[in-house]
Order: sequence, then structure tokens, then C-alpha cells
Amino acid sequence: MPVTPVELANTKILITGPTGQVALPVVEHFAKIADVYALARFRKAEDRALIEGLGATVLQADLADASSLDAVPEDFDYVLNFAVVKSGDFDYDLAANAEGVGNLMTRCRKAKAFLHFSSTAVYEYVGQEPRAENAPLGDNHRVMFPTYSISKIAAETVCRFVAHQQKIPTTIARLSVPYGDNGGWMYFHMLMMQQGIPIDLHPDKPNYYNPLHADDYIEKIPYLLGAATTEVTTTNFGGSQKVSIEEWCAYISELTGFEPAFQDNPKAFGSLCIDTEKMHSLIGETKVDWREGVRRQLQNLAPDLLK
Ligand SMILES: NC(=O)c1ccc[n+]([C@@H]2O[C@H](COP(=O)([O-])OP(=O)(O)OC[C@H]3O[C@@H](n4cnc5c(N)ncnc54)[C@H](OP(=O)(O)O)[C@@H]3O)[C@@H](O)[C@H]2O)c1
Repeated sequence: MPVTPVELANTKILITGPTGQVALPVVEHFAKIADVYALARFRKAEDRALIEGLGATVLQADLADASSLDAVPEDFDYVLNFAVVKSGDFDYDLAANAEGVGNLMTRCRKAKAFLHFSSTAVYEYVGQEPRAENAPLGDNHRVMFPTYSISKIAAETVCRFVAHQQKIPTTIARLSVPYGDNGGWMYFHMLMMQQGIPIDLHPDKPNYYNPLHADDYIEKIPYLLGAATTEVTTTNFGGSQKVSIEEWCAYISELTGFEPAFQDNPKAFGSLCIDTEKMHSLIGETKVDWREGVRRQLQNLAPDLLK
């Protein structure tokens, strides 16, 4: 039996990282039914206009700088922390991603629930074996994003520490390949296929993941908030279907006629699929079939390329 989802209509919600690929559809969805505040550094004027256009209130702050959170209201009902930075500078990225979640939780300690978005990039590479939440952690994404896995692991630890200290009901959701009508990893693969750029693949094939469509993660957010406890609930958060890069590129090929040029690279991210047992017990199965999600993405972003 999944947990009882919280009711988000007419609540006051803080969403960090609102301009990112993952959070943007979340802001768009919840700003229609709730009082949504959107926090980022907002260095680009057009980002502010984009978010205001969706009906959310902009809060300009840098999570790495605790004093910049002084203007953040303290009475949010729920907080969704999507913000992430991958500048490659360890000092800044650890301050923003790890200390940043601590700064945010301390400021929003009265929240009914705090949802921190982590990543399956926290798991050590172990081949095709689905990763359960207690699987060994490791510096999985170093080859492409040197600070990412380490700062996401550090962020989880700070998040648990502050949740325990301040007694904030919290869930940590480890995302696997979020995607939707506005983009995602497979869209980059499509562009590489179009331009004949080789796609690096780990030689231990197939390279499995659990792509998670935006419709599904939006639907599951109230459940993840309902699963929050002061002990902290940590769960994988991916699509119920396991799909390989090879499969989604073959499907993109069917849709567009572009052929993938795969090349073996032992340093490429390897298979990173998830054990879905805990996720299913907490929030149930996801609904969007991956083929339908990929087709919709291309229909939305590059309709002219569909055969
Ligand atoms: N995309 C994926 O495939 C994927 C996979 C697994 C997990 N995730 C997780 O999903 C979440 C969202 O990822 P994403 O890909 O959507 O990120 P993204 O596109 O890189 O966007 C990052 C967001 O965070 C904000 N931000 C960055 N540094 C900040 C700071 N110091 N203070 C406040 N805000 C800051 C950015 O806005 P400003 O630059 O204006 O501050 C932007 O809104 C992250 O937690 C990520 O780890 C993503």
C-alpha cells in the first residue's frame, strides 16, 4: 500500500532550482494550484521572467551563502530542493550543494515536509545489478562531472543531519534519468545521432537506467512528501521500466531515421538501474511508457525530425 499523498492545493511551497530541466515542469504544474516561491541565483534576466510568467514568486538567493537566505520566508508548508551546481570547483559546489541544503533546511525548519532530490549518481558502479538504497556509494559521475557524485553524497548527509537535529520530516529521492517534453538525456543522444557524433557506451552492455517522465515525478511528489519522516526516508526515484541507452537510441532511430554511432569507452557512465522495491512500496508504480515519453519529447522539441 503506497503512503497517503499530501494535499498540495492552496499550500505555500518553496521550489529551489526552478529554472532547471527537472524542476521547471514542477513549477509550472504546482504554480497553478498552490502559492509557489521559486529560489535560484537568477543570474539571467530571462529566467526570472520565465518563472514569473508561470505564476511563481521569485526569490533570488545563493544556497552557498547562508546570509542570502535571510529574505526567504520561514513559513513554507513544503520545500522541494532541486537546486544543484556542477561548476567543477569543489569548494563552491560542496558549499552550494551540501552546505546549501543545510542552510535551506535551517531556514525552513517549520516545514511540514522537506523533499531533497538526490541522484542515482551516488551509487558505485557495479554493472547491470539493480541498485538498492543500501548499495555501496561511489564517485560514479567523476568522468563527466568531477564534483557531482561527491557533492550529492555530501548533500544527503547534511540533509539527514539537519532533519535529525531540527526534527524536519524529510524524504531523499534519488532520481534516475528524469526527462520530459522539455528535454532529458535521450534528447542529447538524439542530437548526437543527428550530427553523427559518437555516443560513448560502457562496454558492459546493455547500459540500463530507469527513465522517469515528468508526468510521473509530478504525480509522485505528494506521495514522496507523504513518506517524509524525521528519521528521513531515502528512496530510489526512477521509472518502473528498466530501459537501456541502446534501446532508447534504437527507438529514436525508428522515429527519426538517424543511426547511433556507439563507441566503447570503459570510462563512460555504466549501467545504473535501480531496485524499485522500496519505491513501489512507498509511492506505487509509474505510468508513462518510456516509448510514449520519448516520442512525445521529440514531438514537442523537434517535430520536424519525426519521420
Ligand atoms: N538532469 C538529470 O538528468 C538528473 C539526474 C539525476 C538527478 N538529478 C537531480 O535533479 C535536480 C535538478 O537537476 P537539473 O538537471 O534540473 O539541474 P539544472 O538544469 O542544472 O538546474 C539547476 C538549478 O539550480 C539552480 N542553482 C544552481 N546553483 C544554485 C545556487 N548556488 N543557489 C541556488 N540555486 C542554484 C539553477 O539556477 P541558477 O543558476 O539561476 O542559480 C537552476 O535553477 C538536481 O538535484 C540533480 O542532482 C538530475
